[in-house]
Amino acid sequence: MPNEAVKPSRRDASTYEIAWLPGDGIGPEVTREALRALDAVASAHGFAFTAEEHLMGGAALDEAGVPFPDDTRTACQESDAVLLGAVGGPKWNDNTGDQRPESGLLALRKALGVYANLRPVRVSNALASASPLRPDRVSGADLLFVRELTGGIYFGTPEGRTDDGARSTMVYSEAEVERIAHIAFQRAQRRNGHVTSVDKANVLEVSGLWREVVTRLREEHYPDVALRSLYVDNAAMQVVRDPQQFDVVLTGNLFGDILSDLAAALPGSLGLLPSASIGGAVGVFEPVHGSAPDLAGEDAANPIGTILSAALLLDELGEHEAAEAVRHGVDATLDAGFRTRDLAANDEEAVSTSTFGREVATRAADHSPQNASPSLS
Ligand code: IPM
Ligand code: MG
Repeated sequence: MPNEAVKPSRRDASTYEIAWLPGDGIGPEVTREALRALDAVASAHGFAFTAEEHLMGGAALDEAGVPFPDDTRTACQESDAVLLGAVGGPKWNDNTGDQRPESGLLALRKALGVYANLRPVRVSNALASASPLRPDRVSGADLLFVRELTGGIYFGTPEGRTDDGARSTMVYSEAEVERIAHIAFQRAQRRNGHVTSVDKANVLEVSGLWREVVTRLREEHYPDVALRSLYVDNAAMQVVRDPQQFDVVLTGNLFGDILSDLAAALPGSLGLLPSASIGGAVGVFEPVHGSAPDLAGEDAANPIGTILSAALLLDELGEHEAAEAVRHGVDATLDAGFRTRDLAANDEEAVSTSTFGREVATRAADHSPQNASPSLS
C-alpha cells in the first residue's frame, strides 16, 4: 500500500494531522462544521487529530500570489489527510491560466496523485421529498461515482490558444484507465456488484480505448462483477429517468464532473454530496459543491457534503466506527427535521450552518462508545 511505503516512520498512528484548506466562499464555514464533527467523535473512538490551516484557491492568490502555494503543498504532502472547502468566486473570474483559483485545485490533485474521486449519492427517505424528481423514483437510489481525477481533458497536452482558436486534448493511457477501473470494480464487489462505465465510444477514440480496457479488465479479474458500458448522453438521461438502476458509475474526468452534479439533483441539493479523492499517498476530502459566493458569510450553507466528506476521511484512515457515528449524526439530524436553507420548505424553517453542524456533532457524540447505553461487558 502506498501509505506505508511512502511514510515508513509515522508518529503514533492514533494522532492524525489534517491539512485544513478552507479556501473561498462558504469553504471556511462548511469545513468548520466538519472539524466539529470530527472533534465530537475523536476521543470516544481512541484517536486525536490536529487541523492546521493553509491557504488555497482565491484566498491564496490574494495573500501569496498563487492559488496553491509551496507551503500548502508541503503541508498536504506531510499530512495524513487533506480537508478542503471550495475554491473560486467572482473576484477571480477574470483570472486566466495558473492565476485561476481552480488551477490550484487541479495542481493539488495532481501533486498528491489522487487519481480516484469517489462521489457517493444516496437518497434517504427523509430527503426523497426534497428531490425535484418523483419521490418514488429517487427514494433508495444509491450510486457511487468513481471519477478519474488526474487525467483526461483536464490535463491533456497540447492545450492552449492557437492562431485561430484554442485547443484542449483528451488523453488517456491504458494504465490510467486500468487503475481507475480496478477501483470501480473493487468498490462494486463491496457494494451491489454492478459497474456502469460511461464513455463516448461512438465518437471519441479515447473512449474506444477506455471501453476496451474496462471490458478486458472485467473479463480477466472481475468475472463476479456485472459490467455495462453506456454512452454519456444516454447515461445522463438514465440517471434522471431511473437512478435505481445504478450501482457504481465509472467515468473519466470531464464526464464524471458533469454527471455528479446532475446526480446531486436526486437528493435535492448539491450541498449534500461528499467526495474522497484517493489513490495517492494522502487523500483529499471535499464536498462536491463549489464556493457558493452568494451564500458566503451568511451562515446559511448546507454543511452536510463536507461533514460526510469528513466521514469518508475517517474511513480512509481506517476509523470506520467513528465514520459511522458521523454519518449517524447527519441522518439523525435530518430525521429530527433540521434543514438548512437549500432543503427547507421556507426560510423561516431553515437553520443555520453552525446550528445544523452542532446538532450533527451532538448526535454523532451520542452515538459514540462512552455515551452508548451500557453493554454486557
Ligand atoms: C469539482 C469541481 C472542480 C472540477 C472545479 C472547481 C475545478 O467542479 O470538484 O467537481 O471540475 O473538478
Ligand atoms: Mg464539478
